[in-house]
Amino acid sequence: MIREILRMGDARLLERAREVERFGTRELAALLADLRDTMEAADGAGLAAPQIGVPLRVVIFGVEANPRYPDAEPVPYTELVNPVLTPLGDEEEEGWEGCLSVPGLRGLVPRYRRLRYEGFDPAGRRLVREVEGFHARVVQHECDHLDGILYPQRIRDLREFGFTEVLFPDRDEEE
Ligand code: NI
Repeated sequence: MIREILRMGDARLLERAREVERFGTRELAALLADLRDTMEAADGAGLAAPQIGVPLRVVIFGVEANPRYPDAEPVPYTELVNPVLTPLGDEEEEGWEGCLSVPGLRGLVPRYRRLRYEGFDPAGRRLVREVEGFHARVVQHECDHLDGILYPQRIRDLREFGFTEVLFPDRDEEE
């Protein structure tokens, strides 16, 4: 089911989400189905449960060829529960981000270039990956939602924050 996506200004986006305690349940499967339906309908690269008003540590992400991210390498579709991120090295890089909870805007955000993420799939199987670049960026963005952080809070220079259609007038945008 496609759910309403909360937008910036909603206090629920600022809370720390709780760990999932039981895996393989019908409730968790229904949550993942709603997240996927909602992300696909919005043509997003990722979505976190708090964005649909569910305060649990669950994110999904994945990018095939997405017109919102024309330069981005593909990221496999992933369902990640109770994630823990560990940066690999100190190297950061800046990249443009948008968010379905902050429609119509883009900002330049610093993120760790490489990291390991660990967590579980909805059945409770352990998932561990080491990633870099855009994949690492997407994971950091989505997991920030679980701690009540929206990407504008991470922008170092607010001059690098603006409306997508003004920043990238040649890009074909869906929002
Ligand atoms: Ni977001």
